[in-house]
Amino acid sequence: MEILDIGLIFVLSVILPILILRWINGMMRDKKRLPPGTMGWPLVGETFDFMKQGPDFMNNRRKQYGDLFKTHMLGSPTVICMDPDLNKQILNSENKGFIPGYPPSMRNILGEWNIAAVHGPSHKAMRGALLSLVSPPMIRDQLMPKIDGFMRSFLAGFGGQVVDIQAKTKEMALLSALKQIAGIDGGPLAESLKTELYKLAAGTISLPINLPSTNYRLGLQARGRVVSMLKRMIDKRRASQKLFNDMLDNLLNSDETTKLKLTEDQIIDLIITLIYSGYETMSTTSMMAIKYLHDHPKALLELRRENLEIRKGKPAEYAITWQDYKSMTFTRAVVHETLRLATVVNGLLRKTTQDVELKGFIIPKGWRIYVFTREINYNTETYSRPLQFNPWRWLNNNLESHQHFLLFGSGSRLCPGKESGTVEICTFLHYMVTRYWWKEVGKNTLMKFPRVQAPNGLHFHFNEYEKFE
Ligand code: HEM
Repeated sequence: MEILDIGLIFVLSVILPILILRWINGMMRDKKRLPPGTMGWPLVGETFDFMKQGPDFMNNRRKQYGDLFKTHMLGSPTVICMDPDLNKQILNSENKGFIPGYPPSMRNILGEWNIAAVHGPSHKAMRGALLSLVSPPMIRDQLMPKIDGFMRSFLAGFGGQVVDIQAKTKEMALLSALKQIAGIDGGPLAESLKTELYKLAAGTISLPINLPSTNYRLGLQARGRVVSMLKRMIDKRRASQKLFNDMLDNLLNSDETTKLKLTEDQIIDLIITLIYSGYETMSTTSMMAIKYLHDHPKALLELRRENLEIRKGKPAEYAITWQDYKSMTFTRAVVHETLRLATVVNGLLRKTTQDVELKGFIIPKGWRIYVFTREINYNTETYSRPLQFNPWRWLNNNLESHQHFLLFGSGSRLCPGKESGTVEICTFLHYMVTRYWWKEVGKNTLMKFPRVQAPNGLHFHFNEYEKFE
């Protein structure tokens, strides 16, 4: 008994104070080294506050703690960075300890060779193969004729119809990618791939709960079916002697064009990457451009003027060329203004591979960094009257080369589809404005956060503007 008492006294008087002192010291040390902020509740952290408050969550904490603060969200301790210079620095520093930090559902469904899942030499190889598919000469010679042909037929027959432009642009993004990648022109294969790709995309933004009927399980199953379809397509191509002049041909012969030999698994994940990466960005930008142009008739008139000028004196079947695209300065400005104002991309996720120092703070290994770029789009120093849709601001202002132009990311992950994507949206707008005018119908609601979407669709009544076919 006595021994127990002495032990207890020893623990209370010597060991416990040491432990408490250590804990306090540790807290002080961590506090000094970690950015300010709160971590919220165990496990869930501040996820629900973030989901409920959206950009206000970020802005309120920014007022309280500054441009760099810590939180815990979506299952990870996270540092939010809202400093434009630092954001750019992080995006440009992949080799200094910042790799993509997208959630597990995305990684598992998009595949181990998905571009966001690879880094170092594997990323370099996959990215090299991808860039060779969307280089300016490829866009000019191979992609533009396909995109033009696709848009002509996809956008035919809107006259006199009410169209849910949200559903239509989603379908457009997928089918246009299938046409560019493997020359798939509608039909049962396109329909089956489309159905599975919708499920695959929904799975990537769900919680990774692998139970029957969860979006995650459906997404994984859809991936399996997409992989089988792509495998069959590749087998057929290999057995054929024909040249198809499309991305799949280039990938299968990638050792000749890029001196890199990709395995079949890598080719399949690269195709899924290509389709997936452009899906939401392209469809949302196209949808929102239609909405903004509807709400801003002066911009619509200017856009129409520029695009009718291109068609002047040309036969109806004339396909727009690289030269025409280069002359579409206002159309390009509409694309950028739409991307900026709608904020199609709120921010980018990174994960630290080692302890890294930012602004004198230490971000521990394994933490997420949310490079939150959204607020840059509304910065009054860069964009006067930032809440106004004003495509003219992009003309003669060199905004595209502004150091904080991060609409397509920056550094070694800069969007490889920047130019081909812009060509595609410009071609979409070209055929929309030269063929139709449109009026919004019904009560459509638009949500801006966490994703830009119209929960019940975005409906417009279309009428022929001028028939040229
Ligand atoms: C308006 C359309 C688009 C926007 C706004 C956009 C935006 C972005 C952004 C911000 C990133 C950087 C991601 C990061 O750093 O984590 C990115 C990366 C990427 N984008 Fe795009 N994108 C668009 C269209 C496309 C298209 C059409 C393709 C397909 C050709 C594409 C393929 C990719 C790929 C593969 C990456 C990852 C690059 C890498 O990790 O090396 N994007 N995009």
